[in-house]
Amino acid sequence: MARVVRFHELGGPEVLRIEDVHVPEPGPHEVRIRVKALGLNRAEALLRSGAYIETATFPSGLGLEAAGFVEKVGPGVQGFIPGDPVSVLPPKSMIRWPAYGELAIFPAALLVRHPPSLSFEEAAAVWMQYLTAYGGLVDIGGLRRGDFVAITAASSSVGLAAIQIANMVGAIPVAVTRTSAKRQGLLEAGAAHVIASMEEDLEAQLKRVSGQHGIRVVFDPVGGPIFEPLAAAMAWGGILVEYGGLSPEKTPFPLFAVLSKSLTLRGYLVHELLADPGRLERAKAFILDGLVSGALRPIIARAFPFDQIVEAHRFLESNEQFGKIVVTV
Ligand SMILES: NC(=O)c1ccc[n+]([C@@H]2O[C@H](COP(=O)([O-])OP(=O)(O)OC[C@H]3O[C@@H](n4cnc5c(N)ncnc54)[C@H](OP(=O)(O)O)[C@@H]3O)[C@@H](O)[C@H]2O)c1
Repeated sequence: MARVVRFHELGGPEVLRIEDVHVPEPGPHEVRIRVKALGLNRAEALLRSGAYIETATFPSGLGLEAAGFVEKVGPGVQGFIPGDPVSVLPPKSMIRWPAYGELAIFPAALLVRHPPSLSFEEAAAVWMQYLTAYGGLVDIGGLRRGDFVAITAASSSVGLAAIQIANMVGAIPVAVTRTSAKRQGLLEAGAAHVIASMEEDLEAQLKRVSGQHGIRVVFDPVGGPIFEPLAAAMAWGGILVEYGGLSPEKTPFPLFAVLSKSLTLRGYLVHELLADPGRLERAKAFILDGLVSGALRPIIARAFPFDQIVEAHRFLESNEQFGKIVVTV
């Protein structure tokens, strides 16, 4: 038996319960992990409230990111033994392989030996944010030295990962946040420029900071009305990578900017990368290099104890965080 977070109905953070559950033996090519830390994602709040790409069947587990020790390996697993410290790439289904628990089962193919310099809290905060940002910026956007890249929801975990990756490749990260409350933090996190979209003219500021170059890559999980100013400030031939839907408002299609500048608007889910072994290996190698060199370092907004999973989800939805929320187990 292990303590596992489950929910029996859709709703707010209060539907999450910690229950004693029998966690089965790992199946063929699976591994059971004794979890030490969890990384929280917006996706879990969306699953819990019924707005995710997966639909919960009750009782449902949840969670996409964990780090801990291998506890037991299933038949056919090679390369890992009990006691190995590991972190886990996000599984394709968090209903099938939920992370929130003292014990959790994952396909062995998702296990990574992270650099020993990382704490379990940091290791649980690596894979979703850096894989998502790497996939959108480098794999799809082709981000390179000298490019101006606009990063919206910049204080989110993925946004901060994107700032670090942009700096790693020599691009110029322009952070877009809603108010100036997080401006100083974003500058300290490596943003070259910070624009508060609810307080400033976003199009004018993007054009001012990028000058004659324009914004070559936009990395956006917000959508909604900011599509127009984002597209208006883009360079000819630029690409807008859309990877979320945080805005509750309708997203306009910026027809004339797209037409006149041959813009590409590209939807992107990290699952695309996870399902492609070649691209995934390149992504992992890039991220591990960055972690070892120190160019990439997860920013932890706050760590909650396991018993406070409800409070951790409340904090996630408060939008007050700056970086990744983790839970220690
Ligand atoms: N496509 C994929 O595969 C993929 C993978 C991972 C995450 N995502 C998406 O990436 C986004 C960030 O995820 P995360 O887990 O890193 O989130 P997070 O850390 O919880 O991000 C929260 C931040 O997003 C910004 N935000 C929240 N609501 C907003 C709104 N209505 N309008 C504008 N900005 C808003 C706020 O930043 P400011 O205070 O700075 O404005 C807030 O601090 C989510 O939309 C998530 O679904 C997508």
